Amino acid sequence: MCGIIACVGDSDDAVDELLVGLENLEYRGYDSAGLAVKNGGDPAVFKRKGEISRLKDVLADETPSGGLGIGHTRWSTHGPPTDANAHPHTGCGDRVAVVHNGIIENHGALREELRARGHVFDSDTDTEVIPHLVEEHLAEGVSPETAFRRTVRRLSGSYAVAMLVEESDAVYATRSGSPLVVGVDDGEYFLASDVPAFLDFTDDVIYLDDGDVVVARPDGHVITDLDGNAVERTVQTVDWDPEDAGKGGYDHYMLKEIHEQPTALRQTLRGRVDAQTGEVALEDFPPGTFEDVSRVQFVACGTSYHAGIVGARLLGARDVPARAFLASEYATSPPPVDGETLVVGVTQSGETADTLAALRRARAAGARTVAVTNVVGSTAARECDDALFIRAGPEIGVAATKTFSSQVVSLTLLGERLVRDVTGSRSDDVEELFAALSDLPGQVQQVLDYTKARRVAKRYRDSDAYFFIGRDTGFPVALEGALKFKEITYEHAEGFAAGELKHGPLALVTPETPVFAVFNGRDHEKTLGNVKEVEARGAPVVAVATDDDEAAFEHAETVLTVPETHPDVAGVLANVQLQLLSYHAADLLGRSIDKPRNLAKSVTVE
Ligand code: F6R
Repeated sequence: MCGIIACVGDSDDAVDELLVGLENLEYRGYDSAGLAVKNGGDPAVFKRKGEISRLKDVLADETPSGGLGIGHTRWSTHGPPTDANAHPHTGCGDRVAVVHNGIIENHGALREELRARGHVFDSDTDTEVIPHLVEEHLAEGVSPETAFRRTVRRLSGSYAVAMLVEESDAVYATRSGSPLVVGVDDGEYFLASDVPAFLDFTDDVIYLDDGDVVVARPDGHVITDLDGNAVERTVQTVDWDPEDAGKGGYDHYMLKEIHEQPTALRQTLRGRVDAQTGEVALEDFPPGTFEDVSRVQFVACGTSYHAGIVGARLLGARDVPARAFLASEYATSPPPVDGETLVVGVTQSGETADTLAALRRARAAGARTVAVTNVVGSTAARECDDALFIRAGPEIGVAATKTFSSQVVSLTLLGERLVRDVTGSRSDDVEELFAALSDLPGQVQQVLDYTKARRVAKRYRDSDAYFFIGRDTGFPVALEGALKFKEITYEHAEGFAAGELKHGPLALVTPETPVFAVFNGRDHEKTLGNVKEVEARGAPVVAVATDDDEAAFEHAETVLTVPETHPDVAGVLANVQLQLLSYHAADLLGRSIDKPRNLAKSVTVE
């Protein structure tokens, strides 16, 4: 996700203000931090891998000063967290310094082109093409502003960019698909990914639109479109408490992260899928990557395990033998593995000890390994043969939310690559599946906009226990719904395969135990049969179903509705309703939602 900040003023304290801004943006990424400050000549660049405290140590020795600066806190997407990959990036000389949030999709082609003209790159990042391009345009003799505009025209993907140039007293910035706001104070400007970055200094804000170009100097600012036509943007005053601002106005990180899912999913999908042609393009996995694979094993814990079950089911249904294993069990009693086995470690953090142990065991037994993770540079990403990054952005709340959705979508894409390589043909329903993936971010937004989860949570708040059922891809969603519920409400909650109810758990079902039934469009009649069993024992049923599902409406006391989609991704939508249900139930109980008792975000012991 990354956070960017810039300060424009005529005092000498840009460094202090940038550091405050970076600390306020740390929730957007904390792999590395850096800044560039200008005091007359070249921008002076300071950057370090790791948390902001490491950058501060460097600055304590160097004590740079200046009124103009840019800063960055990184959440890695291209290249591991290293000093070289930290922002700001410069070109071949030190004339231009750039910070960037987003993904430059055509960076590979631009890099090749620039290399052919003699440019030398210092980092693995997509960002570094920007200062090199600006540098070339400056060499043609145009102004920094023109060089910036010409460069921005060459970029495709999502970006918010801020730039310093040697011969200018301005910060140049633009956005397209990534956030950028302007803070306005007396004789001073701030540019940042998010308002909290500069709330300590000003609460007057200009919200920019995609395509806006800002040139800010100590004595004024100009906002234009990419062609240089002036655009009007009004200054608004926000009334946020700086303490809560990192939560973007939400009461908890968990709620904020639930609401970030449409954006996270767009990031996960960006440049990887073409719904028209059914093509899948995964950076490190070109066609043929998995030709030697004959079976797939997913290893993971908790929420990531539930995503792994979805992944295994998608493959199984398309004739690729696949199974999901709890990593802790896999490590102690592993199934047969050989050189044709692909073991996929699904892990948000990339640091979960049980998952790492399972992956190491698999590698030692000769399997090929892939990490599906949110954290570039994590142990899983480094130790596995390959990594697929889910690009959900940092998740602060202990309960995994947006990362589950991004894991499921990433595994769906990886799954299609595997199906093609292993079976020699694409999935029969690939057009429908990819169209559903493309629609998914918008449909998640619909769920967020129209949910009545809080009302449902209120209605059943005094129950004895909470059960969740589903079948096929609805089964892992039932498990995930129950995990989230117990994790943050501390109430008793269990998830079952719908068909298993009658083999034991039905004994627990009473009028005081609501049952949440996930309908995902497959085997509808059978799930309905299970709902009727529950109904007959007097338990209230809450269905998660589409709004034209007459049978669900007939048999459930309440329905949490989701838009119609492909059954393989329907679970993502149902899960968003269940995330909201858990969140509101926990909120009504006054629980410590972002840091539930006894739990940690990253579990680094076996
Ligand atoms: C639940 C939750 C945990 C994690 C599990 C694995 O909300 O967050 O169950 O899913 O500890 O963590 P990662 O994915 O980092 O390996």
